[in-house]
Amino acid sequence: MKKIIAITLCMAMTAMMLVGCGAAKEAAPAETPAAEATAETPAVETLTAGKLIVGTNAAFPPFEYVGDDGKPDGFDMALIKAVGEKLGLEVEIQDMEFSSLVTSIGSKIDCAIAGMTVTEERKQMVDFSDSYYEAVQFVLVTADSDIAASADLSGKNIGVQLGTTGDFIAQDIEGATVNSYDKAVDAVNDLVNGRNDLVIIDKNPALVFESNFEGKVKAIDGAQFEFEPENYAIALPKDSALTDAVNKALEEIKADGTFDALVKQYIEEN
Ligand code: ARG
Repeated sequence: MKKIIAITLCMAMTAMMLVGCGAAKEAAPAETPAAEATAETPAVETLTAGKLIVGTNAAFPPFEYVGDDGKPDGFDMALIKAVGEKLGLEVEIQDMEFSSLVTSIGSKIDCAIAGMTVTEERKQMVDFSDSYYEAVQFVLVTADSDIAASADLSGKNIGVQLGTTGDFIAQDIEGATVNSYDKAVDAVNDLVNGRNDLVIIDKNPALVFESNFEGKVKAIDGAQFEFEPENYAIALPKDSALTDAVNKALEEIKADGTFDALVKQYIEEN
C-alpha cells in the first residue's frame, strides 16, 4: 500500500513538473524519481557538493603564504582558484601542517596544492595531476659559511621542514643531525642563530628567505650538491574522476595565458 502511494505521488510530481516547468522537454526522461537529482549532479564528485576543499601549508612563499588580510595567498592559491573556476566549484582553502596533507586527501580535503613534489612514496597514497612547476632543493647557509659541495654536508646540523623532500635528502646525508620544523622559516631562524649549519629547502622559498634575511643568509643552487630536479603537482585521491578534470582545467589555464600571468605575478616579480 505504501509503495503504491509513493509511486502515485511520484507520478503526480512528475506530472506537475511537466506542466509547471517549460524546461521539462529538455529534462532527462522522468521515469524514475532519481532523474531530477541527476540533472543537478556536478560533473565531478567532491566531499561537499559544489565545493573544492583544498589543503595547503601556507608557509612556503611564493607558492603559499598568509597574506596581509590573514588569508592564504600565493601562486598555488591563485592557480587552484583558477582551476576551481573552470570546474564550476567554489574553492575553500584549509591551511594545515604539510606532513598531514597527503593523509587528509579524500577525507578532510579534496586535494592538496602546496608546492608538493611528485614522489614514488606519495604515489602509493595519492594520485598526482600533471606537473605544473619544476623545482630543485637549494641550500641556505649563513653569509660567512664555506659550505659549497656535497662533501661539506656530512656531519652537519641540517634544518628542514618536516616531511618534505628536503627532509628526505637530509636524512640520507652521512652523519648529519636533522632538525625538522613545522615551518621552514623556523629552520631559517635557527640557521641565523647558529643552531643549524644549513637548511635544505626548495629553490623559490630559498630565494625568498635569502632576500627576507638579507645579508645574513645566502642561497646555493642544489645542482652544486647534485640534488635532482623535482616536479610540483596537485595531489588528489587515488582513481578519482577529479584528476582528469583538474588536468583539463590546467591545460586550459596554460593555453589561455592565465598560467604565465600567474608565474609573472607571483614568482618572477618577487
Ligand atoms: N617540495 C617539497 C615537498 O614536496 C616541499 C613542499 C613544502 N610545501 C609547503 N607548502 N610547505 O616535499
